[in-house]
Amino acid sequence: MRTSITSLLLATVATVAAVTGSGPVPLPAAFQKTAEPTRSGHRYPDFGYLPAPQQYEGRVFKLSQDYPTALPAGGDVPEIATRDFDAITKDWRTYLLDVRAYCFRGNIRGHDVEDDWQVEHNTENHWYHMPWQHYGPTGREGIHGLTKEAPVQPQQLAESQTYTGGQTYAVGFYNTFGGYTIGEVWKDHEHPAKDLKKIEFPVGTVVCKVLFVDIPPDQVPSLNPALIWHGYITENFTSTDRSIRRLSLIQMDIMVRVRDARAPTGWVFGTFQYNGKRPGARPQPSWDNLVPVGLQWGNDPEITTDTSNPTPKETIINKQLKQSVINPDANELPPTHLGWNGRLNGPVDNPRSSCMSCHLTAESPQRSQISPLFEKNPPKAGSPEWMRWFQNPKCGTAFDQHVTPTDFSLQMAIALQNFRSWRNAGSKILASRYKSQAVPARIKDLPARNVGGLHDPEESEVEIRRDYKAP
Ligand code: HEC
Repeated sequence: MRTSITSLLLATVATVAAVTGSGPVPLPAAFQKTAEPTRSGHRYPDFGYLPAPQQYEGRVFKLSQDYPTALPAGGDVPEIATRDFDAITKDWRTYLLDVRAYCFRGNIRGHDVEDDWQVEHNTENHWYHMPWQHYGPTGREGIHGLTKEAPVQPQQLAESQTYTGGQTYAVGFYNTFGGYTIGEVWKDHEHPAKDLKKIEFPVGTVVCKVLFVDIPPDQVPSLNPALIWHGYITENFTSTDRSIRRLSLIQMDIMVRVRDARAPTGWVFGTFQYNGKRPGARPQPSWDNLVPVGLQWGNDPEITTDTSNPTPKETIINKQLKQSVINPDANELPPTHLGWNGRLNGPVDNPRSSCMSCHLTAESPQRSQISPLFEKNPPKAGSPEWMRWFQNPKCGTAFDQHVTPTDFSLQMAIALQNFRSWRNAGSKILASRYKSQAVPARIKDLPARNVGGLHDPEESEVEIRRDYKAP
């Protein structure tokens, strides 16, 4: 009984998503693909918010969700994941540009930039989206699949940036190796991660994510000329009023699960920043304007000095760091704040955090904040408590007790959290969900670990958010 009601609800969400819009505009035959049936026969909703048909026509975001049911043969692991670790770190610039090329392949069509990243039509390489990002006020919009991420502070991007209501929106993609793990976790739509003791991405997983800001581009010299996407987004970070608005490309993030055991956590993280003054091979403005910021393969746990550069006039490179490398070319890289004490971070990330610092917390249920700054009583910067967020755990290690680590994937953690919120909210309104014999009459001291569990103690979970807090 419960099963059929839940599936009905899921189906309703999907139908609502499908009928609110004018429907996808037919694509050229070369891009059309027959949908393969998913393992359960269900489809996940594509998005949560779509403009009304009288307001919008054009591409409609489609969740790439035909997750592979088997891993590609070993020989198909992309070379960027099998490269020698010394070559990756010493020749970081070549590495970043090679990863960028891998991400662009088949996703950049070379015509109107608004048509790019329709990964479900990529015939050269397969990419997938994380389900369950449609849910809640920050959920996916229906034009490009963007989710609301974080506010942008005045002068975070440039001295001349005075705009105060700035916000970031982004969309991420997983290659086949990542898509396989998503499919494993979500093969039973109602009991995610049911049979899994661990959530681990295989060597060869590549994830990339493009990030946009709604700041007027004329306030930020490096955003000229800007690469513009339209998104169905809120007026500002705290608003829930959506309209079709312009967004400028600012950043692209990548993470690669590499084979070489010398990678302290198994992952390497890298980022690119948009620079309108540095055109690439494609006509301007293009994705080629994304220039390397740097590469990170560890959190430098021994370095505890507390510095940051929240309103950057220049990029400050910390030569002490051994596990982040930053592009030293000031002509190429616009002034950028980086992360805590110079660790790698992108222009719309928190200047007192760092890529791997946030991502190492990814777990389900999420018991700790993704940054020590967001804790109720933030520990002193550089203290042993603070440095918990700047260690190098091997991938698949849990940050807290009684949780399932989601292997550095915060989207996976969010997806599971959203699913639980939806189901827990549902369980409050649907009397038919209750099975009286399943409701304990006395409090039991049960371990909290239960990824899909209906009775997860919600109060001990924190919301995964990326709010910037001023230092
Ligand atoms: C303040 C915390 C924070 C910092 C710092 C941060 N991220 Fe993330 N990142 C997140 C959250 C939360 C998500 C999930 C929501 C989303 O899709 O953005 C995410 C998502 C991603 C994704 C999509 C896959 C996934 O793991 O969910 C990639 C790739 C990524 N980040 C890379 C980076 C890189 C590279 C950096 C540094 C340049 C970085 N991140 C810095 C919080 C952070």
